Parts: sequence; C-alpha cells; structure tokens
Amino acid sequence: MSRIAYVNGRYVPHAHAMVHVEDRGYQFADGVYEVCEVRDGKLVDERRHMERLQRSLSELRIAMPMATNSLRVVLREVVRQNLVGDGLVYVQVTRGVARRDHAFPTTPVKPALVVTARNVSRAKSDAQAEAGISVVTVPDNRWKRVDIKTVGLLPNVLARQTARDRGAREAWFVDREGFITEGASSNAWIVTAAGTLVTRSANSGILRGITRTVTLEAAGIAKLAVEERPFTVAEAMAAKEAFLTAATQIVMPVIEIDGKKIGDGRPGPVALALRARFHDKAEIGD
Ligand code: PDD
Repeated sequence: MSRIAYVNGRYVPHAHAMVHVEDRGYQFADGVYEVCEVRDGKLVDERRHMERLQRSLSELRIAMPMATNSLRVVLREVVRQNLVGDGLVYVQVTRGVARRDHAFPTTPVKPALVVTARNVSRAKSDAQAEAGISVVTVPDNRWKRVDIKTVGLLPNVLARQTARDRGAREAWFVDREGFITEGASSNAWIVTAAGTLVTRSANSGILRGITRTVTLEAAGIAKLAVEERPFTVAEAMAAKEAFLTAATQIVMPVIEIDGKKIGDGRPGPVALALRARFHDKAEIGD
C-alpha cells in the first residue's frame, strides 16, 4: 500500500507530497506541529492535542488553517487512507508561502497545512518498555519559548543525535542551574527513594506534554505522591526509577542516565503500572 499525505487541501501520494520553497516553515521554521497517538485506528487525546495546536498557533499569531471539526475529519481521513492501526498522526501548520522577509507577510497568506500518518509497532514499543532505555544529558541551549510546539527543533535534533552517538535513545536537557528540563521529544520524570513521583512544572522550561498531563491524572487516581518541581541530574541518578512520557512512547522506563544505572537497572514498577493504565485515563476517539 502506498502512503497518502494531506497537503493544503489535497490527499496526495506521499512521494509527491510537496510544499513551496518559500513556505515560511521551510525558510524560518515559522510553524507548529502536533503528534497524536493512534491506537486501534482511533486518535488518543485528540481534543487536548487540538487545544495545544490552537494555543501554539495563537502564540505565533498564525490562524487555524481550518475549523477544528474539519481538521478532525482530515486527521481521521489520513489515518484511514494509510490503514493506521497503531501509530501516529502528524499535523503541521506553517504561516504559509510568502516572499522571503523575516517579518510577517503584509498581505495575509493562507497558513499551510500538512497531515501525515504512519504505523508504529505496538509490540516493538512494549518490548522496549520491558527492557527500558538509556538517556544521556546535554546542556539545554534552546530558546525560552519551549512551551510552543514549534517546528524549530534544531537543538532537539542535535541532542537526539548526541544520544544516538552515545548509544542512548533519548537526550535529557539540563538547564544552567543543573536541573533536568525535558527530553529532546519527551518529558522527564523520576520516582524518589520515598516513592514520590517528580516531574518539572510546566510553567517554565518545558513543553506541557499531553502524555504528561494524563500521566499526572493517572498518578492522582492511583494516590501516588506527586511533586511538580525541578530535579537535578544527581537526584535523577539517585532515584529509584526514571521514565519519560510522549505521545509516541506513552510511559517509557529509563534504566540508565549517562551510563549510571537507575535503581536496580530495570524498569520500575511505578513506570510500568502507569504505562499499563495510561489508556484507561486517556481520551480515546470514536
Ligand atoms: N514530541 N517535550 C518535547 C520537547 C516534545 O517534543 C514532546 C513531544 C513532549 C511530550 O509531549 P506529548 O506528551 O504531548 O507528546 C515533550 C513529539 C512526540 C515529537 O516531537 O515527535
């Protein structure tokens, strides 16, 4: 089966899915995106992803490319046409096409919309969660507006490549004070020796992950002690457990940070329980 992408009003074969060279996303990373999990062909937490998309767009003064309900139809159609069972759907909105000039176009242009979807093996992801993953730490050299989910991801790209070069799956950014902020494409968590779940507050330095929000709800229902506060690399290394959250990973146990084993070096029970319960708490679409 050949893949299909939605590009500015048309469903086209993936190989022919093109945007203009003067798309401001291409030239300035002037755009935002969302990644939504698809499970059994249904969108997971679509409402929250749509809300965050709207927020990101409004922070950059880009209009929604179409009404939310129409966009939801497009997402479903791309999922359907690509026969996605378990996987993800990717949505990108850029300011549109205009002659290159840093300031916004003076005559309004239509925002550009691209939607793609693909299958991701659930079995592979579950096997990875059972084994746990390694992360490395890198200095957080990003801009301050990391609350906006922009396609300007060069520091994240370089961080993830550093992780790969060092044989790890993810990189955790560390701010100037020595606190872990978040991963290149995920939020970071630890479980302290006392069993308290700790993750940085979404008020500064991180993207407010949808998976993070749902995991906090699941933790509350499970009556786990939770603290939203910064934690250092040293605290993470001394933690009982560590894990990360993202729409593409759900809850993924971390067993090693910069080569140092966390806890007993195996995925922890809290992370695995939160992963197992995640989809009971998430909103699953129709
Ligand atoms: N990234 N922090 C960053 C920097 C991210 O890029 C992401 C997600 C998250 C987790 O957010 P959520 O739980 O809403 O997926 C946190 C997506 C998956 C990506 O770039 O592929």
